[in-house]
Amino acid sequence: MTGSDTGPAPSGPVGVFDSGLGGLTVLRAVRDRLPRESTVYLGDTARVPYGPKAADTIRRYALEATDFLVDKRVKAIVIACNTATARALPDVQDRAGVPVLGVVEPGGRAAATASASGRIGVIGTRGTVSSRAYSRVIHHCRPDAEVFEQACPLFVPLVEEGWTDDDVTRLAAQRYLEPLLEKGIDTLVLACTHYPLLKPLLSELVGPGIQLIDSAESTAAALDDLLSAAGLSSSREEQPGASYYVTDEAARFDLLARRLLGEEVDHLEMVSVDSTG
Ligand code: DGL
Repeated sequence: MTGSDTGPAPSGPVGVFDSGLGGLTVLRAVRDRLPRESTVYLGDTARVPYGPKAADTIRRYALEATDFLVDKRVKAIVIACNTATARALPDVQDRAGVPVLGVVEPGGRAAATASASGRIGVIGTRGTVSSRAYSRVIHHCRPDAEVFEQACPLFVPLVEEGWTDDDVTRLAAQRYLEPLLEKGIDTLVLACTHYPLLKPLLSELVGPGIQLIDSAESTAAALDDLLSAAGLSSSREEQPGASYYVTDEAARFDLLARRLLGEEVDHLEMVSVDSTG
């Protein structure tokens, strides 16, 4: 690790990493909430998806992303990927030498607070769901809660295909949501970078009695608190910078970036973060 010798500075950028481009939804929430902060985004597009991979593999990938961002002298790191947060948050916190925030704790806390009945559904990748990380956070905040987790492995490819309002996606969603709806949940956590793009379809399917919790928005709010508490908030007046790095040629980067981030991306570079080869 080759980080700063003098500790993080408020003028430094916030580093955000994800398994691919889905984390741009989290970056977007961060940039909306904290418009003075410069950002460095790393999307591990060569190795996406993390969702179905083994826990040890995801841990190694997350540490390599951490080393890359620390070399960019970031003042804090946001793990935008739910799967990487669920599998590797403590390892990244040990390694980084700067404050590290994952998406699970803010999303889980928000759900625990928002739910009236304490019956909470969580949808995510297989990796996130099998880690039970959201259940742990929710139970920690609210011991009486009942948490029902459901893996929705088809959602990521469907969103990447742009089928966010499509009958195929609607059918898959009905099938995934059915067991959660049978449990009488009143709150549903969108525990994956890609799912905020399915919000309109999911709200229509679950109806007005179930509120959707977006981990991206809660994470941006938690980052705001974390930077203020650590005296690391930027007071910059000029336009903040935004750099983007990917680990593979992102053939459809522009298209996906526009869809997920809502804007064009200027500074994009391809890098290697793989320490094994
Ligand atoms: N970024 C992942 C997550 O939030 C979804 C994509 C993947 O499986 O890598 O869990």
